Amino acid sequence: SSARLIDRFGREVNYVRLSVTDRCDFRCVYCMAEDMTFLPREQILSLEELYEVGKAFVELGVHKLRLTGGEPLVRRNILELVDKLGRLQGLHELTLTTNGSQLVRMAKDLRKAGVKRINVSLDSLNADRFKELTRTGDLQQVLAGIEAAKTAGIERIKLNAVVLRGRNEDEVMDLVRYARAQKLDISFIEEMPLGAITEHNRQLSFVSSAELRERISLDYELLPCSENTGGPSRYYRMSDSASRIGFISPHSHNFCHLCNRVRVTVEGRLLLCLGNEHSVDLREVLRGRPEQLRQAIVDAMAIKPERHYFDLEEEPQIVRFMNMTGG
Ligand code: GTP
Ligand code: 5AD
Ligand code: SF4
Repeated sequence: SSARLIDRFGREVNYVRLSVTDRCDFRCVYCMAEDMTFLPREQILSLEELYEVGKAFVELGVHKLRLTGGEPLVRRNILELVDKLGRLQGLHELTLTTNGSQLVRMAKDLRKAGVKRINVSLDSLNADRFKELTRTGDLQQVLAGIEAAKTAGIERIKLNAVVLRGRNEDEVMDLVRYARAQKLDISFIEEMPLGAITEHNRQLSFVSSAELRERISLDYELLPCSENTGGPSRYYRMSDSASRIGFISPHSHNFCHLCNRVRVTVEGRLLLCLGNEHSVDLREVLRGRPEQLRQAIVDAMAIKPERHYFDLEEEPQIVRFMNMTGG
């Protein structure tokens, strides 16, 4: 079909991030409160409802779907959804952002269901540090999961590292070397102020992408790279490696004018921007007047905000934690 989703600023929405669960087996310090409470089952979209939402978007011209969480791979029977979404006509890419903890068990089936690219969060290569940052995570399990994904034939794996001053800033070069050795891409992320976290002060923890780029440039020449995944990362190449290094810089380099995406929270709220609360309740549409789902999505484009106004100097304006939307 020739349907397209265009917002008031002329931006085309062709990428949708579906949060399939708010649960996670990790408790990353920048993402969740330690005593996070999760939503009761009836409030979250069923797998059938998630499929209907994905299908509606694809019919409206979306060609990239990313499953997020929480941790998408801890949702029961998630492979059934992956498999069904993967068959949608018009979808060019079905991918996931995962913490990697379930990949040893699930990588093969994901590949079988058509997943060719995944993003894996990895903030530290030091087991104790990793435990501190994720509160419950096991580094070896994640590294084995990355290995399993490569073995299963998932061709492109991108690592995501949120860099925090005084916690893992000294590991940036280790992470770059690991990515190079494993032939993976890696993106470094400036932390975003979602949810009131208590473990660190976000202003004091802030490390800019510019600082990281300078540090990496001491060891490797970073060459500009025109290729783009359709996400917010700005990528650089190195002359002696297939790995690319990306920077996601919500604070130091706003990318909102290029925004091509919306997300659906685990409760079925179509969220028009990660850094704003403008949303439309698709769950209510799905459960009350399902024949209006596509129109509800089309109409929602009118309220997509121009940009986020993240400000690390103020209390977080967005009370929802990252695990409701998966970033
Ligand atoms: P690819 O470019 O396809 O590899 O993916 P991605 O970088 O879009 O997705 P990923 O799930 O790996 O997210 C990486 C980081 O980018 C996370 O911290 C997300 O929160 C952040 N991110 C993704 N989309 C947006 C956005 O629209 N706005 C902001 N501020 N951050 C975003
Ligand atoms: N700021 C920036 N990135 C975050 N992520 C989770 N919480 C935050 C935050 N507050 C990252 C995760 C994962 C991706 C989906 O979002 O590390 O890689
Ligand atoms: Fe889980 Fe990802 Fe949040 Fe960490 S960042 S707690 S892995 S959802």
